[in-house]
Amino acid sequence: MSAQPLTRPTIPPETPTVDLRRAFGRAASSTWVVTGSGERGPVGFTAISIVSVSVSPPLVSFNISKTSSSLVTIAQSGRAALHLLAEDQELLAQRFARDRTKRFVDDGAWAYDDHGLPTIHGAAARLVTRVHDLVDAGDSFLAVVRVEHAVTSERRPLVHHAGGYRPLGGAGGTLHDATGFPDGAARPTLTHPTTAGA
Ligand SMILES: Cc1cc2nc3c(=O)[nH]c(=O)nc-3n(C[C@H](O)[C@H](O)[C@H](O)COP(=O)(O)O)c2cc1C
Repeated sequence: MSAQPLTRPTIPPETPTVDLRRAFGRAASSTWVVTGSGERGPVGFTAISIVSVSVSPPLVSFNISKTSSSLVTIAQSGRAALHLLAEDQELLAQRFARDRTKRFVDDGAWAYDDHGLPTIHGAAARLVTRVHDLVDAGDSFLAVVRVEHAVTSERRPLVHHAGGYRPLGGAGGTLHDATGFPDGAARPTLTHPTTAGA
């Protein structure tokens, strides 16, 4: 069989942006705050575009709008800290998406780390990264960053879905692993058909 030529998927130019937004609004995403710092002081913004790209080397990506007030600082310093917000941190998610002059008020919610990067206290996870690549992508740059250091806690993440923030849900329910079996449960023994009964 001959290989089929790869073709680019076509998106009709008339696809309304609002339909795209509505489609992605159906997705459930984890909620992060990206921070950086430079001559202009601390910068940061709420983001749901964080994606794990590669384990070795450890690369992660996020989108940063070309109009973002954080862009120049993160691009010039080459550093960013990524915080996975915990389920009780909705107010921080709102704060880092709104008035930029109020994001780094001195209220104890954050502090500088040893690298001079703002740390959001109480996050479910924190990744300290270096910028690996900034790829021009429409109205954003796709920032590919290399993880230097990762800290995680047992805290549950804040989920963004259908335009709102929600806890993960299922509290008290059974956690299932990726195979669908309850976490920690004994798995049934799988028997190959040709060896069954042998
Ligand atoms: C739920 C949510 C997710 C967002 N995700 C991103 C994102 O992935 N990348 C981005 O650049 N801005 C994202 N934003 C917008 C930023 O949080 C911020 O509001 C915007 O960049 C304007 O920031 P500025 O005032 O510092 O320029 C998101 C906003 C919300 C409410």
